[in-house]
Amino acid sequence: MPVIAIIGAGPGLGAAVARRFGREGFSIALIARNQSKLDALAADLTAAGFTASAYAADVRIPATLEAALARAAAELGPITALQYSPLPSRDYLKPVLEMTPELALEALQFSALGLIHAVRAVLPAMRQAGSGSIIMINGGTSVKARADFAGTSVAFPAESAYGEMLHDALDTEGIRVNQLVIPGGIPQLQLANGIDGVADRIWDLHAVAGPFRTMLIPLEDGRE
Ligand SMILES: NC(=O)c1ccc[n+]([C@@H]2O[C@H](COP(=O)([O-])OP(=O)(O)OC[C@H]3O[C@@H](n4cnc5c(N)ncnc54)[C@H](OP(=O)(O)O)[C@@H]3O)[C@@H](O)[C@H]2O)c1
Repeated sequence: MPVIAIIGAGPGLGAAVARRFGREGFSIALIARNQSKLDALAADLTAAGFTASAYAADVRIPATLEAALARAAAELGPITALQYSPLPSRDYLKPVLEMTPELALEALQFSALGLIHAVRAVLPAMRQAGSGSIIMINGGTSVKARADFAGTSVAFPAESAYGEMLHDALDTEGIRVNQLVIPGGIPQLQLANGIDGVADRIWDLHAVAGPFRTMLIPLEDGRE
């Protein structure tokens, strides 16, 4: 059974992507910090007929992330698809004049370093299989800095650069690396199929080869 690991799995996009990949026959590894919330989400998915398990980890603490991914692979099987989508803290959405080196470092640990650790944990099995996908979900500050969202404006471009290089480096190995940029809150974007439509787009990124970056909507129409 193919396995998706959702790093930053909550009731919003994480749950929608879990259902979308679950419908395609994937087992689901849910990863976020709060074990009891994750257990509740796993129970909901299991009750809906999917195979889902919860593994608590904080993306800013590499050992917890690596342990969660190792347990998921041991219990569910090698990770076929990795979604990296932890919801940024409000601290990373502060004005640039409040930026400190400590905050910049934490934002980079959250966005770029967490992804690098996760990729290094799952990539050997993907390369051995000759297939897999790594999907990053980011806001509009990955494309255009905003002085009122200083932390993500510093950290998302670093994460994006790593992802784009990976996309090119793994292109010939059958491993897809993609970024979906969501410029603004999904409810405010008033999309035809709401969050399930976004999950459909993410499924397409996994299933069909394409460019590194996909904008959910053009940046100028979004708010973030
Ligand atoms: N939904 C939207 O409207 C929207 C719009 C634009 C962009 N996005 C992007 O889409 C992604 C998903 O957003 P969402 O709100 O819909 O997500 P979600 O799946 O409802 O939840 C994301 C989860 O990330 C987890 N998280 C936060 N910090 C973490 C950390 N340090 N380590 C591990 N997990 C952490 C949180 O759980 P814990 O607190 O338990 O850790 C949270 O429940 C995010 O990258 C977000 O920036 C969403």
